[in-house]
Amino acid sequence: MLHTSKQASLKKYNTFGIEAVAENLIEVSNNQNVKEAMRVSEELGVSPLILGGGSNVLFTKQSYPLVIINKLIGIEKQKEDEHFVWIKSGAGVVWHDLVLHCIDQSWGGVENLSLIPGTVGAAPMQNIGAYGVEIKEVFESLEAINKSTLQEKVFSNQECRFGYRESIFKKEVKGEYFITSVTLKLTKKHKLNISYGAISKVLNSQAIETPTIKQVSEAVIQIRESKLPNPTKIGNAGSFFKNPVISNDQFLELKNEYPNMPSYDQPNGKVKVPAGWLIEQCGWKGFREGDIGVHKNQALVLVNYGNGTGADIKNLAFRIKDSVKEKFNIEITPEVNII
Ligand code: FAD
Ligand code: EPU
Repeated sequence: MLHTSKQASLKKYNTFGIEAVAENLIEVSNNQNVKEAMRVSEELGVSPLILGGGSNVLFTKQSYPLVIINKLIGIEKQKEDEHFVWIKSGAGVVWHDLVLHCIDQSWGGVENLSLIPGTVGAAPMQNIGAYGVEIKEVFESLEAINKSTLQEKVFSNQECRFGYRESIFKKEVKGEYFITSVTLKLTKKHKLNISYGAISKVLNSQAIETPTIKQVSEAVIQIRESKLPNPTKIGNAGSFFKNPVISNDQFLELKNEYPNMPSYDQPNGKVKVPAGWLIEQCGWKGFREGDIGVHKNQALVLVNYGNGTGADIKNLAFRIKDSVKEKFNIEITPEVNII
């Protein structure tokens, strides 16, 4: 039996807190439900919008014909050996709950990804990353259902074609699959990654020399809470844009003009530049117009103070993008899914 409702408000289903209506809203809690929901979408002749935590979407329409909310829960240990443990999680599990579960069992690999909002199923969509780690480093495989054929398919790590905030699900097979579960390969003997400056700073300030995975997780949580606005207080979807990657030649030219420009060398010889810095230099940090704006502490985060609309935020995003292009000749592209 499907859990459905009509003319449902989507405000609580997106962390931007944008008002929009789902003409039909279905909550699915197992694979059978997912297939039934796909049949409903076929009967209605519409393409469904799949939502997890709604923490990486910007609604720009007033209504959506069919929204499917992913509630596939359950975490199970699949197998283990001396060094590793394989954990399979339902796609509707809250990502941070999975992280806490792993830390409780002392399974390592996801501690740097603590407190990222959203669900497990959406995590591979954009290869979530933070503090020097991306999910691809611990990702074993995922299971998904093809929305048209209803066939179930397993995608290996390689098949997901992960990149920086990218995967096959945002490109070649965009919109074709419903991800139902994710399996991670976690460590029993940990190799902690505390290379990210802010993490070692927090640990040093607490005089922790040999941290546990729990202490690394707590340091990450402390940094995140100090930097990023809490969506339950101010509507936002984290970084609105990706950090652009530019050629070394362009970087050297810009560095000459802006000696303080931060940068991160990439393995392919290119250079990543923080979009937050570029946007701040264009004067947008703390900008507010009515109920929408740019966060005062993190220029990469666009915010909704209450009754902002998706169309207004999209419009602001494009004004920001144009100004960065004009000042630095750098294209910044949205990370958030504008729908
Ligand atoms: P949703 O927003 O619900 O969906 C995102 C996209 O995936 C949509 O296109 C949706 O249709 C699709 N989708 C969702 N579930 C499925 C599924 N089961 N099958 C198929 N398609 C699906 N991201 C990072 O990488 N690093 C960060 O540090 C980070 N920090 C953040 C901080 C804040 C305060 C916020 C609000 C967001 C942050 N994000 C970050 C972005 C966000 O947390 C991630 O993108 C997260 O994975 C989104 O999960 P979700 O369940 O909310 O996805
Ligand atoms: N910066 C500024 N001004 C700002 C914001 C940032 O100058 O207003 C500079 C900082 O001084 C720093 C640099 O930009 O030198 C990087 O800033 P920060 O460490 O805050 O990280 P970020 O590049 O803005 C990225 C991810 C985040 C992730 C953090 C930590 C992207 C698009 N964003 O942000 O992910 O949590 O690093 O690893 O890669 C998300 O994807 O939604 C997200 C929040």
